[in-house]
Amino acid sequence: MSHLLPLSRVAKLVGQPRHTLQEMIRNGTLATFDGMVELDELLRAFPEVKWDDDAEFRRVTEIKDKAFAKRVRERALPDKDVLVARLNELGDDYAAAKALLLHYGNVMTWLDEKIDEIEENASAETHHALHTLRAFLLRNLAETPPDAVLAQAVIAQERILKLMSAHVTIQPSGHEFYVDGNDTLLEAALRNGVSLSYGCSNGNCGECKARVVSGEVKKVHAHDYVLKQAEKDAGVILLCAYAPVNDVVIEANVAEARDIPLQQITAKVKSVEVFNPQMAALHILAPRSQRLRYLGGQSIQVEANGVSGRYAIASCPCDDRHIEVQIPRRPGDAFAEALFTTLKANDTVKMEGPFGEFVLDEDSPRPVIFLAFGAGFAPIKSLIQHAMSLELAESMDLHWLADAAGHYQDNLCRTWTDALDNFNYVPHAQGGDPDAVLADIVLDYPDLHRFDVYAAGTAAQLDPARAHFVRHGLPEARWFAGAIDG
Ligand code: FES
Repeated sequence: MSHLLPLSRVAKLVGQPRHTLQEMIRNGTLATFDGMVELDELLRAFPEVKWDDDAEFRRVTEIKDKAFAKRVRERALPDKDVLVARLNELGDDYAAAKALLLHYGNVMTWLDEKIDEIEENASAETHHALHTLRAFLLRNLAETPPDAVLAQAVIAQERILKLMSAHVTIQPSGHEFYVDGNDTLLEAALRNGVSLSYGCSNGNCGECKARVVSGEVKKVHAHDYVLKQAEKDAGVILLCAYAPVNDVVIEANVAEARDIPLQQITAKVKSVEVFNPQMAALHILAPRSQRLRYLGGQSIQVEANGVSGRYAIASCPCDDRHIEVQIPRRPGDAFAEALFTTLKANDTVKMEGPFGEFVLDEDSPRPVIFLAFGAGFAPIKSLIQHAMSLELAESMDLHWLADAAGHYQDNLCRTWTDALDNFNYVPHAQGGDPDAVLADIVLDYPDLHRFDVYAAGTAAQLDPARAHFVRHGLPEARWFAGAIDG
């Protein structure tokens, strides 16, 4: 009897991104059956995984959480109704398996009696054959084969995953993510960088309406918005009020940059992080009831103590209420001056945005080169974290050409390299001839036609860079540029 697991769950069990498994399928090192992986195949393909100890799995998850600058959250239990429904499902599975086992036991007893009956009048030869058969059956039933112990450990881990989380597929975009702990569908989508349409996030506006195509969901928060009976009959729910019981397919809109409304939010300074005399980051905490909707790579206007400026967001949309903007200290920039001198935790800061369309092409599975010139690292950092949370690209290379502020988040880039097999970081020191550096970079990519390139810097830096890449085979349409000087 085979045990099949969906590819997304296998990825979670072995602690590998989905595209790594897809690559294994393409090169024939992992066999699938209708998108599912058979348990024996899983054990064969990942002999190094210690299935009876989830410490390694937790370690990899924690490194990745850290690398993505995500808050390492406590393991929250699912909502109690969801947990009860999942336990019921598990109980049903257990009961079905137990019933099957009893049936097999009955078949074995019947077989044993049949052998007795046949043996009574059997020839010596048949008698011997039946004796051998009975001995074979008894021996194999009595001992546990080594593979069964591993299979039991994998199934136990899979069951715990099913109890603690559920897999969601969004149609028609094809985005996939897990809902962990007591998150609603909307919270989990945002945490995973999937920009679903929503408004109030607390059950009042109806803008997060979506349709359940398959699977079971449960209401976990009351909502004032009233769904029409016809909508309920069609499976429409509010994503901010429901959580999945089991793996679900949901029909919902994924917002593009131009769909996200301009928002004005009054928030608090969480902290000021001065990297060096030329560069600092402003960390803002949005109110619980009003998080900022944006996509990786966009910018916002910030205003505090009578001064303001527009800067690139450096955080990931998956980063809950935390927003980071990185600000270079430039002459004449009063907000930057305030950031370096007077702005402090708990000061009020007004945000307006998001602005700009320098965002990821989420439909592209192509490998990506990120090119950051100096403070252009800020939008690139946001894009990288967004791409990581979506598990988008086959591979990601970051080239950071430093200015006087240096590689002020060098450690973070190195952590990404350590945590992710498909991430490569190449710092380029200040002082070299930028033209020569760009010429060297493009020589490393003889197959540039396969890539997407996202570049951020000043317009004067971006134009020659684009010329280098296009001249060496990058299709013009696959060059995405974000100017940080307007
Ligand atoms: S976001 Fe307003 S009801 Fe869900």
